[in-house]
Amino acid sequence: MERVRLDKFLADQGLASRKELREIIRGGRVHVNGLAERSPERKIDPETDRVCFDGRPLQNSRFFTIMLDKPLGVVTATEDRNEKTVLDLLPPELRRRGLFPVGRLDKDTSGLLLLTNDGDFAHRVISPKSAVEKCYCARVEGNASEADAAVFREGLTLRDGTRCLPAILEIQEDGRLLVTVTEGKYHQVRRMLASRGLPVQELRRLSIGGLKLDETLGPGGWKELTQEDLCRVFSS
Ligand code: URA
Repeated sequence: MERVRLDKFLADQGLASRKELREIIRGGRVHVNGLAERSPERKIDPETDRVCFDGRPLQNSRFFTIMLDKPLGVVTATEDRNEKTVLDLLPPELRRRGLFPVGRLDKDTSGLLLLTNDGDFAHRVISPKSAVEKCYCARVEGNASEADAAVFREGLTLRDGTRCLPAILEIQEDGRLLVTVTEGKYHQVRRMLASRGLPVQELRRLSIGGLKLDETLGPGGWKELTQEDLCRVFSS
């Protein structure tokens, strides 16, 4: 990949203006491959050099991953003739970077959705081999019981006969349910709860692996993920 000046690389990540960044770099707050780099003119290779800002590793500029607090009523797609898509929520400069959703949330599900232009990362998150845990908060009609939780633990069978892997159902004090699954079958959580006579009224995804939704983003809000965030996805 083409080498770029350190101050430009940091400015392209939207961290501060190029002028401010020159001062920041001279102040020793930026490390390249583990060593403080005080020269803004230093050329780096964004693909192979590891750059840290205030100790925080930055993603290289080629790959880009964000978390979105998906609002209700938008579809998880890159384009759609009739419906507003999650890509429509992002500014044009982001849409130009070739982002696509990692897995999908239903139109009437809100919460944590990842979008990336890194195909390998997306594949690793979705692959059944990775068994990444996804945790959802559900409001349902009716009351779940310990018997329901036990069936979830064993791996329940959906109404159409489809077998599900063991999952976790936790009943919260306010009656809401936390459901943790490692698969991504079509309408999985809704169908699992429906099979126990608990139709879903509201569904929100709270986490993917060890990465939690940043609730300060608000519906439609997004933020870029750091390298640490990306690692959290694969740790529970
Ligand atoms: N399970 C569902 O039923 N819907 C979603 O959007 C995600 C998981």
